[in-house]
Amino acid sequence: MDRKIYITRRLPDEIVAKLSKYFLVEMWEKEDTPVPRSILEEKVKEVDGLFCLLTEAIDRELLDQAKNLKVISNMAVGYNNIDINYATQKGIMVTNTPGVLTETTADLTFSLLMATSRRLLEADQFLRQGKWKTWSPFLLTGQDVFGSTLGIIGLGQIGKAVARRAKGFNMEVLYYNRSRKFDAEQELGIHYTEFEDILRQSDFLCILVPFTKDTENLISRKQFSLMKDNAVLVNTSRGGVVNEDELYNALVNGDIWAAGLDVFNQEPTSIDHPLISLNNVITLPHIGSASYGTRMRMAYLNTENLIRSLAGDKPVHLVNEELSN
Ligand code: DGY
Repeated sequence: MDRKIYITRRLPDEIVAKLSKYFLVEMWEKEDTPVPRSILEEKVKEVDGLFCLLTEAIDRELLDQAKNLKVISNMAVGYNNIDINYATQKGIMVTNTPGVLTETTADLTFSLLMATSRRLLEADQFLRQGKWKTWSPFLLTGQDVFGSTLGIIGLGQIGKAVARRAKGFNMEVLYYNRSRKFDAEQELGIHYTEFEDILRQSDFLCILVPFTKDTENLISRKQFSLMKDNAVLVNTSRGGVVNEDELYNALVNGDIWAAGLDVFNQEPTSIDHPLISLNNVITLPHIGSASYGTRMRMAYLNTENLIRSLAGDKPVHLVNEELSN
């Protein structure tokens, strides 16, 4: 048992116990705070494996310090916090945790869509602040979900799971993706739509693409100008896919009607962020996959990826597939 791993956040005992059967384990113990960069830089020098989260930047500078590192296991489906090309160049495997969080994240995406369209948070505040004086014909009126048109940008597993939920609401479901998914079209009765057309036609637009150089600021001023003025934007992917300044302008100018955001460019976001000042925005602290069961499944899958990789076996989910031989 001479392999060393470092865990960058305090995890439940059962996960640490499992990892300790295979490795010499060190963990950043301080209750729910990200490991300071200086400590991570020290630790990465010694270890064979890293169990990390999306809060750690695993960049070129960090990877240059790592002498023995063979695997980085990221407890997330997204891996934009890791310089994948450089890790691959250095022969370091990167693993992630797709699949186990699909339904939970789709649930949250759909919840945010509904809460935004029917102004649930505003209504709750209205009542708590003692403003409810009478039933009123147009009080807190929102947008209908049932029978409307949903555009999904990025038809991965979560996108498909959102489409299934939308079908239960009799929604017309359009999607845009880099490649067409003919099987999904057949199975779910959804329609491939060119990028600008999906912006023009959707009442609800769900952003579910990974964050890459190609998707950075994918939704910006021009895209907002094409959207319906009653449209609701829901982003549960990564903040950088939507240009936040332009989103603010679009919401203030009435180019779109509202937004539901689980993710921000800078996380944690400051409460002084201009988007938070708007009533037609619902904000969440990146909780898409946050059910207890799913977070445990993600932690176990990450553990499995780490164990397999360091045993010389193929991990369950390898990001840099080119290292699989
Ligand atoms: C991910 O997995 O990438 C989410 O953002 C957190 O679950």
